[in-house]
Amino acid sequence: VNRPAKKKAVPAPPWPTDLEHRLLAEVLREGDQVIDATCGNGHDTRFLARCVGPSGRVLAFDVQAAAIGAAARLAEESGLRDRIDFFHESHAGLAERAAPESIAAVMFNLGYLPGADREVTTRPEATLPALEAAARVLRPGGWLCVMAYSGHEGGPEEAAVVEGWMASRADLLWRVARYGMLGTLSPAPVLLLAVKPG
Ligand SMILES: C[S@@+](CC[C@H](N)C(=O)[O-])C[C@H]1O[C@@H](n2cnc3c(N)ncnc32)[C@H](O)[C@@H]1O
Repeated sequence: VNRPAKKKAVPAPPWPTDLEHRLLAEVLREGDQVIDATCGNGHDTRFLARCVGPSGRVLAFDVQAAAIGAAARLAEESGLRDRIDFFHESHAGLAERAAPESIAAVMFNLGYLPGADREVTTRPEATLPALEAAARVLRPGGWLCVMAYSGHEGGPEEAAVVEGWMASRADLLWRVARYGMLGTLSPAPVLLLAVKPG
């Protein structure tokens, strides 16, 4: 029978969230300590917990009790609860929860929790001090990853402030990058990356 040759999947640029996970999966090692600064429903927390293995630790922050509850349930169902410390508090104080230069990666997923009150969103007043704190607790060679959104009220302003802060790390010899899709129908997230000098 003359069957058409099976089509090979064409490689395409990954979505920013996908790229972020691929990079961190490559960088993180068993036993690492990492931070999810905006745990929300816990999908990134679960991803990080898998990356750091049974001897690693994830510190997960959120200001909404519902988010912490959902993330803790997801972790429990995934058999990962014992690798995670949840903090029902603002990420602005994260340096009080981790030793200086001890953390392999810090993730921020800015904006509001899907399906919850859109009034509760990340804001530059807390995000900027949290970025400063993240810079202190990251170890040399540690990765700071921020997913920034511009589709909600206050989003474009916050994204611009965060991007400015990230870009200013280049003066301090951090390696900094920005990645996003072009030509999408609705505003797509932008991934900002900064790696602390080793
Ligand atoms: C886009 S959601 C995060 C989604 C999450 N990464 C996931 O996988 O489901 C942003 C989260 O940031 C939280 N947030 C807002 N301000 C915060 C703050 N100052 N400190 C910590 N979390 C905050 C919100 O409550 C919300 O759950």
